[in-house]
Amino acid sequence: MSGSSLPENIPPHAPSERSGGILSWIDRRLPVISGFRQEYIDFRMPRNLNALWNFGAILTAVLVLMLATGIFLAMNYTPTSAGAFMSVEMIERQLPGGWMLRAMHMTGASLFMAALYIHLFRGLYYGSYKQPREILWLTGLGLLLMVMVTAFAGYVLPWGQMSYWGADVAGKAVGAVPVIGATLEHIMEGSDQLGDIFIHRFFVLHFLMAFAIVAVVAFHVAALHVSGPNNPDGKPVPERQTVPFHPYYTTKDLTGLVLFALVFVALAFLWPDLLSEPENYRPANPMHTPADIEPEWYFLPFYGLLQSVPSKFGGLLAAAGSILILFAVPWLDRSPVRSARFRPACRMGMVGLVISFVLMGLVGRHHAEGGWMIAGRIAALYYFGYFLVLLPLCARRERQQSDA
Ligand code: HEM
Repeated sequence: MSGSSLPENIPPHAPSERSGGILSWIDRRLPVISGFRQEYIDFRMPRNLNALWNFGAILTAVLVLMLATGIFLAMNYTPTSAGAFMSVEMIERQLPGGWMLRAMHMTGASLFMAALYIHLFRGLYYGSYKQPREILWLTGLGLLLMVMVTAFAGYVLPWGQMSYWGADVAGKAVGAVPVIGATLEHIMEGSDQLGDIFIHRFFVLHFLMAFAIVAVVAFHVAALHVSGPNNPDGKPVPERQTVPFHPYYTTKDLTGLVLFALVFVALAFLWPDLLSEPENYRPANPMHTPADIEPEWYFLPFYGLLQSVPSKFGGLLAAAGSILILFAVPWLDRSPVRSARFRPACRMGMVGLVISFVLMGLVGRHHAEGGWMIAGRIAALYYFGYFLVLLPLCARRERQQSDA
């Protein structure tokens, strides 16, 4: 082949060689520009998407912010039990702009989890997990697990009282797994005492997972572009009721981002400590157990579940099961109707689901004792009952109605 001739499998949408410019020369050989145009500018979107469809873009933006601030924090952090707390204090008090980096990273973590719960609930409500979007749903849940591990590993790093004692509770929960628990606990902690090896491991895990999340987000969005987005009605949208992604959804996503940024800035700069635990501003002290050991707000429902079940291993199973059950949702719900807008029974059930989730969080906050213990068990029963009984029953009735 001569130097100027082109291979025959040039994509049909690539600009012609004569259209000129370095960009079209590149695009003829590696169609990144026309690919981007096709997937992010001309991509057809249903025109009835509501504000809940903004959260994917919000999550992506916060993820970028977490990586950017995290890299600079890591440059100034010391991953040892003697140095971790002081290095974080140094970032807060001496590093120019360090207080801002930390405020943005901490607020980012909380708001990322809040946006993630809204994004997940949107999927549940509008049936976005249903065929043909199962892989999209499963990659999303993979992301949820990865983000949770990353958030937990990050919380350990300042090596304050809550970092230490939270890690101690998690280690003991892992240790309660029959037969392999002690080995797992040892792998997690690295030695008999929480210290340097543990902090090093969690620092590497935190850093590594952040980049692995970016890779999985790429698969998640690729899966979305194969199936196309769902919409609030959950019905296929004819071509004439779609609009191109740009300018319609670029401006809508930007508006959502600005509103979200207002909340973010207010929390990060006016109330940076609203969502954090004062006890974590005391250095880790293995000789002094705090009166209340409590995780960040976004883990409280799982902490509540952990406590509501009498045995440690049972609690661990319930907490893990509450997330694992979401992986089965596309197969538990076989209804032909997708959106909860047209599923009154399912909609009522979902209100109960949110209440039970919040209640489990309150139980985690107040400790599962007395009345809270009973409330925790009822909430847990409802949570699992919704997915295992109510949802499949609703789906069966709707299948029968559509067959009739
Ligand atoms: C790092 C976390 C995540 C990021 C950055 C992310 C990003 C995105 C983006 C950009 C979209 C397209 C815009 C939108 O529909 O909002 C999307 C759609 C979607 N995501 Fe995620 N996502 C994440 C986690 C999750 C999780 C935890 C789930 C739930 C299991 C999930 C399920 C979905 C579904 C079902 C859609 C398609 C929605 C529809 O069109 O109805 N995602 N995601």
